[in-house]
Amino acid sequence: MSEDQSTAGSDGGLDVLLRTEQTFPPPPEFAAQANASDPGIYERADADPEAWWGSWAEKLEWIEPFDEILDWSDPPFAKWFTGGKLNVSANCLDRHVAAGDGDRVAYYWEGEDGTRKEITYAWLLEQTQKAANGLKSLGIGKGDVVGVYMPMVPEAAVAMLACTRIGAIHNVVFGGFSAGSVVERMEVSGAKALITADATLRRGKPTPMKEAIDPAIADLETLEHVIVVDRAGSNPPMTEGRDHRWEELVGGAGGDCPPEPMDSEDPLFILYTSGSTAKPKGIQHTTAGYLTGVTATHKLVFDLKDDDVYWCAADIGWITGHSYIVYGPLANGATSVMYEGAPNYPAEDRWWEIAERYGATIFYTAPTAIRACMKWGVEHVEKHDLSKLRLLGSVGEPINPRAWLWYHENVGGGRCPIVDTWWQTETGAIMITPLPGLTTTKPGSATVPFPGIEAKILDESGAEIAEGGGHLALTRPWPSMARTLYQEPERFVETYWKRFGPDTYQVGDAARIDEDGYFWIVGRTDDVINVSGHRLSTMEVESALVSHPKVAEAAVIGVPDEDTGQAIFAFVTPSGGTVGDDELEAELRDHVAEKIGKLARPKQMAFADDLPKTRSGKIMRRLLRDIAAGEELGDVSTLRDPEVVESLQKQLAV
Ligand code: WTA
Repeated sequence: MSEDQSTAGSDGGLDVLLRTEQTFPPPPEFAAQANASDPGIYERADADPEAWWGSWAEKLEWIEPFDEILDWSDPPFAKWFTGGKLNVSANCLDRHVAAGDGDRVAYYWEGEDGTRKEITYAWLLEQTQKAANGLKSLGIGKGDVVGVYMPMVPEAAVAMLACTRIGAIHNVVFGGFSAGSVVERMEVSGAKALITADATLRRGKPTPMKEAIDPAIADLETLEHVIVVDRAGSNPPMTEGRDHRWEELVGGAGGDCPPEPMDSEDPLFILYTSGSTAKPKGIQHTTAGYLTGVTATHKLVFDLKDDDVYWCAADIGWITGHSYIVYGPLANGATSVMYEGAPNYPAEDRWWEIAERYGATIFYTAPTAIRACMKWGVEHVEKHDLSKLRLLGSVGEPINPRAWLWYHENVGGGRCPIVDTWWQTETGAIMITPLPGLTTTKPGSATVPFPGIEAKILDESGAEIAEGGGHLALTRPWPSMARTLYQEPERFVETYWKRFGPDTYQVGDAARIDEDGYFWIVGRTDDVINVSGHRLSTMEVESALVSHPKVAEAAVIGVPDEDTGQAIFAFVTPSGGTVGDDELEAELRDHVAEKIGKLARPKQMAFADDLPKTRSGKIMRRLLRDIAAGEELGDVSTLRDPEVVESLQKQLAV
């Protein structure tokens, strides 16, 4: 890997000492009842991947059947299930209600303030149709982009489903992002409407959403309508003609809205994620392939049964929420838990209290959250009866073996298999994962590709490495693959399909394959930092920093962090006359929070009159990583001014 592509894998700096040789075969009683219990499933899917995916697509409800499973004549632009027509909301709602399951609970929703609601499939269908009619009454229809910037309330799912009902393309922005990020994402996608809430409740306090974005959205040319859900009763100011109260718009709308017949390849949603540059990438997913991928993986990876109470503790604003809170579970008719707030509010046992209350059987979260729970202490877990749990999942970053073992022992009572699921916004659905009734797990490994998926480790030249480390690549198309970057097809090709050719997807992760063919994800190979499972690009944070008048230059790197996997370390050169002190550090942290969101605030900062650069002026990030880690410096022969490094080292030594 070239200098700037060396990885700072989040597993690397953690408990490397605690590598366990222990392996965990599926418990026999689990295997006996598992949805996937025949190991031949891998071979069959491998022998004819198209037939395998076709069999899953056939389980969906089609308005018009598809003609061809896969058209891969123009890689990397895949077309799946061509000629077919279907509607995602009809698959997620109508068909369950029509089958007599209208009273089935789709979500046990719990607000942070203790409010509880049982959201049935019939209620979701009714609200979705009303919201769809509300959107239509504003002139929003097929192909229009609708932003969604919401807390974790049932209306967030309704908003997404209502878009799919009429063929509008939703563009969800995580509720923790700042006004600036919302505006950028609305602007680049040309959003016509934005659905938001008055406020989000977090740790007992309402934090304004609508009012916070108001000044910034005023100048958006394409944005015609803002729809505001009342979450906290805070009555934000409304702009006449542009702003609408959800309760009035949706409440007053008709309850019958036939689902729009969508082409298999019609766009379903876009979701912006961080890449190597400051400009976020609008990952575009389409209708039939995405729904097929999330349905199959949700059913098999989570071993979903009719009586399960499934809980994915992610946020709807990330791909995990899209695929495994909304579309996968609803397409499969699951009963889920949806929780609005912080895991430790009002106390550190909040999650386990909820899991006990609803009798959760499946629980899916991120390693960072597991490490936080470890820190808070096992007593919070032990207070509650979690004996109904039968399966645990992990996603978003490499899980260090110590956290894996703690999760297994303390949350899973030693009896629940753990599925460590590797995937990305771009892949739409889980790609590398155990099947819990079949796969022997090794703590820290996401194990093997899902049936039908082909993954390889490639060296710099693109040659396959049978055992060892290199670039992770997916070497065969799959139905839920991103189709393009919204309105940027060249960038799509350039980013993912150039390095190893147009039919090999370059993941952007470094990984290792062991003697059993198990994959171990190391970390990113691009300038993306994974903080608590959230993707941020170094450039994004750097441009936020340099937009502050007191900053002349900034370089940002990811460093291993015990709690968050990776943390952001910023090296900053203050502008002339400014002193780099604690006060400036606090000011800059606030500034980044305002520009991007709190999650992007640098954890550590160092100030210097200059940054270590090559003679051609390129910042040497590799040296910054060495400096941050307090390690001996690697090759410094190309360094322009060695004194800069010394001053930084001195500063960090104190
Ligand atoms: C990382 C989240 C190790 C990886 C679903 C990937 C993981 C990026 C795992 C995608 C895992 C995700 N083990 N690393 N189980 N899952 N990652 O798009 O670096 O937010 O490329 O999707 O997270 O992040 P994204």
